[in-house]
Amino acid sequence: AEDHRLRRIASSIRVIPEFPKPGILFQDITTLLLDPEAFRDTIDMFVERYRDKEISVVAGIEARGFIFGPPIALAIGAKFVPMRKPKKLPGEVISEEYSLEYGTDKMEMHVGAVEAGDRALVIDDLIATGGTLAAAMRLLGGFSSTDRVGAEVVECACVIELPELKGRDKLGGRPLFVLVKAV
Ligand code: PRP
Repeated sequence: AEDHRLRRIASSIRVIPEFPKPGILFQDITTLLLDPEAFRDTIDMFVERYRDKEISVVAGIEARGFIFGPPIALAIGAKFVPMRKPKKLPGEVISEEYSLEYGTDKMEMHVGAVEAGDRALVIDDLIATGGTLAAAMRLLGGFSSTDRVGAEVVECACVIELPELKGRDKLGGRPLFVLVKAV
């Protein structure tokens, strides 16, 4: 049953060559969202894994972590916290820079949304180089209890991993759970 669900999820993801630029094979989850059974299976598989782990906060990364995070948070009874691109959140924020292929970007989170002692699950659609998830973990305090807000990052979870890019190695040995490995 597990394999059947994973196969359906994997085959519902569309791969678009040369997007957003030459040489990139884009993993498009919008086609997964068009298949209600695959979308439900995706959410169910995360919920089954996390429902008994006493997760108090699901942190979703803009933009596609905002699609998968909230249904998981509702199902496991956790709060949902958006981790956003700069200048989008109206309240006081803490922020963390991270590097891209060219230049840097920033991720922001509202002050007070996550507190010391919170047990966090970080959700995104995809891990490539791992820079994005690593920045989210630094914001939450996932690398050490003296970091930032001092939450415990229980796990990071993505629908898709690109293992060749070795993004997992940027997570300092913290656990990463993925449903689909792509090339
Ligand atoms: C993609 C993806 C992850 C990130 C992963 O987001 O949804 O958030 O890249 O890359 P990394 O592991 O190399 O850091 P994108 O940059 O397309 O932003 P968007 O979701 O706001 O469109």
